[in-house]
Amino acid sequence: MTATQDTLATKAMKVSWRDSQALSSDRIGWMIRSATQQGVSHFKVLWFDIFFIADPDVIRELLVKRPHLLHRDPFTTNVLRRIMGNGVFIAEDEAWQRQRKLVAPAFHAMRIRAYAETMAAYTREMVGRWQDRQTVALDKELTQLTLRIIAKTMFNVDLLPEAERIGRLMQDLLETGEQQLDAAYPPPNWVPTPTNRRQNAALRELHELIRGIIRERKARGGDEGDLLSMLLLARDDEGRPMSEGQVIDECVTLLTAGHETTAVALMWTWLLLGQYPDVARQLEAEVDGVLAGRPVTFERLAEMPITESVVKETLRLYPPAFSFGRAPQEDIAFTAEGGDYFFRKGASLIVSTIAMHRLPEYYPEPEAFRPERWAAGAPQPPKYAYLPFGGGPRVCLGNLFAMMEAQVILATMAQHVRLSSVAAALPEWSPLITLRPKGVVEMRVVPLAAGPTEV
Ligand code: HEM
Repeated sequence: MTATQDTLATKAMKVSWRDSQALSSDRIGWMIRSATQQGVSHFKVLWFDIFFIADPDVIRELLVKRPHLLHRDPFTTNVLRRIMGNGVFIAEDEAWQRQRKLVAPAFHAMRIRAYAETMAAYTREMVGRWQDRQTVALDKELTQLTLRIIAKTMFNVDLLPEAERIGRLMQDLLETGEQQLDAAYPPPNWVPTPTNRRQNAALRELHELIRGIIRERKARGGDEGDLLSMLLLARDDEGRPMSEGQVIDECVTLLTAGHETTAVALMWTWLLLGQYPDVARQLEAEVDGVLAGRPVTFERLAEMPITESVVKETLRLYPPAFSFGRAPQEDIAFTAEGGDYFFRKGASLIVSTIAMHRLPEYYPEPEAFRPERWAAGAPQPPKYAYLPFGGGPRVCLGNLFAMMEAQVILATMAQHVRLSSVAAALPEWSPLITLRPKGVVEMRVVPLAAGPTEV
């Protein structure tokens, strides 16, 4: 028998009209407050059912046990599809399975460890450009850095003009995407609004650029060790390669998903270190002790637990993907630890990652930046109470890449400079596609006395 709302209680807190007003003016603050009252909150806008979920058991029931009954939420997908086409982020069901299988090998640990060197070298170049006491816009610097890294690891291009062109186009895509997400119902992309025109032009130029890189690559043949080679060499179960259009969509998907998130995580890391100088000094001590002037490598990261904990704690307090949505493709009913749940087909289920990451039952003193929570031997939260990279079969494809990248960049920066925040307090957050800090992140550069020696 299929369960219905009459046969099962919906174990979710109903939200009042006043709450829904608070939700629209301060979405994240509201998500955090409501999660501390109950793990699942429910409200209706006209005939839409919207659920905010910050309960690890319910999340496991949905994302891990019933992923086949869920699609991504249509609001975000409709906007992101314009940019990412039918790449693995957007595809559903069999098309998703096929693409995920084809793209995943590009992110195997053995493959990506070779990228650590590029990540460290580009970071050294960035800090090498900075002058003593200079004030830098860290948000721009880190976005440019992660973009150069993904462009190099993706296409093996390190020519600055080419990477800069990709950077400019990605910026056009992200900014227009954010404008579209901000408008509840953005006009379809064939309507010639200024936003659509800018987005369509950027997409045309980016596709053309990638098509050129693919053609050159195919003419040369072979494996150049980058993500593009893996995409071109990938074969499905019937031995078929991806079409050129599909490779282009995957390239744009990985460029989009693969740089802004990591840059945002690092912006918050440095902002938090400014507020917690003791942690900053512990990080410097670890970096100096382990590296002793040598560059960061994949192998050396294993000896740097504080660096890893600092990144993990930042991703807890400021997860760049602060929430993500799903839409049930049929009615879903189950009993979890907290009670019986019912989610109707077509409802909007929003996993409130940031709210769950601040629940005091899993994270004592949740507002405090305490990397030692993640130290070996410290009590760990339940598995699905920490979700910076999502969970279940759609977990972030780039999570190993991103964790390695964030640690390599952070350790390399900490090896060369100290940064002091120009603003006294932490900035507000600006939640759009990712959880960016509001405004420009201005930092003053304080070089360390002894520069490292290269080995
Ligand atoms: C700190 C950095 C990153 C964070 C916080 C992050 C977070 C996430 C999250 C939460 C999801 C799941 C969304 C959902 O289930 O709806 C996701 C999916 C994804 N991420 Fe990441 N990500 C990061 C970096 C990267 C990088 C570096 C890449 C690639 C180079 C990447 C590629 C992807 C892809 C392709 C998916 C879609 C997977 C699928 O649907 O099968 N991400 N990411």
